[in-house]
Amino acid sequence: MTFQSHKFPHSRSALSVRAECPVNSPEGNVRRNPTSIGERKVIFRIHRSEEVPAIEALFTTVFTDSGTEAEGCLIGKLARDLVEGTKACELIGFAGEEGGSLVASVLFSRLTFPTDIRVCLLAPVAVHSAHQGKGVGQRLINHALNALRNEGVEFAITYGDPRFYRKVGFQPICEDIVVPPFTLSQPEGWLGQSLSSDPIDSLDGTCSCVPAFHNPVFW
Ligand SMILES: CC(C)(COP(=O)(O)OP(=O)(O)OC[C@H]1O[C@@H](n2cnc3c(N)ncnc32)[C@H](O)[C@@H]1OP(=O)(O)O)[C@@H](O)C(=O)NCCC(=O)NCCS
Repeated sequence: MTFQSHKFPHSRSALSVRAECPVNSPEGNVRRNPTSIGERKVIFRIHRSEEVPAIEALFTTVFTDSGTEAEGCLIGKLARDLVEGTKACELIGFAGEEGGSLVASVLFSRLTFPTDIRVCLLAPVAVHSAHQGKGVGQRLINHALNALRNEGVEFAITYGDPRFYRKVGFQPICEDIVVPPFTLSQPEGWLGQSLSSDPIDSLDGTCSCVPAFHNPVFW
C-alpha cells in the first residue's frame, strides 16, 4: 500500500508534558544534542515561542515537496493550530536547528485515556528536504522520546509509515485494543511504544486527541 503522507504527518502524542516545558516555552534551549551532517551541526532543542511562523513554514514546505501544495498547506496549518490552539500542558515540540535555521520539527500532543496514564501522540514530524535521509529524523525523534521518558510519559503513539517508525522503536498496535479518536483509513499505520517499564501490550482503552486533530482527514 502507498501511504499518503498527509495521513501520516506524524507521529502525534499526548501526555501530560510538564507545563514548564511547553512548545512555546522561552526555556526551550535546554537539552542540546548535536549531530554532524558533513561540516554542519544539527542541534536538538525544545521549540521557542517566537518560531511559530518557522514551524508552519517548515511543515508547509516539506509536505509540499513530498506531496502536493494542498497537503503542505494542510499540514502547515495543522502545526500552527497545534501550537496556537493546544493547552501548554498538552503539547511539546522539538526542533532541529542548523546554523540558526529550523531544519526539523516534531510535535507531541496529549492523548487522553480513561485511566490516568500519560500518553503522547507523535505528529507531525518533518525534516527539511535538503536534510532528509541523513539520520536527522531518527535522531530528533530519539532525542524527543528520551526527554519525554525523563518527564514521566509512559507511552508514545503515532500514525504513520511503519517502515520509518519501526526504526525509532514503534510497533503495530491493534485499533480494537487501543481505540483511536477517529476511524483509521490505514490501520497498519497505528503504532506505539512504551517509554516505561510497562509493555506496550498493557495499553488499552479509547483515547481522545487535542482539538487540532479533530478532523477525520488526519486519520
Ligand atoms: C519522514 C522523515 C521525517 C524522516 O526523516 P529523515 O531524516 O529523512 O529520516 P532518517 O534519515 O532519520 O531515516 C530514514 C530511514 O528510514 C527509512 N524509511 C522508510 N520509510 C520511510 C519514509 N516513508 N520516509 C523516510 N524514511 C523512510 C529510510 O529508508 C532510511 O532507512 P536507512 O536509515 O536504513 O537508510 C522525513 O523524511 C520527512 O520529513 N519526510 C517528508 C514528510 C513525511 O513524509 N512525513 C511522514 C512520515 S511517516
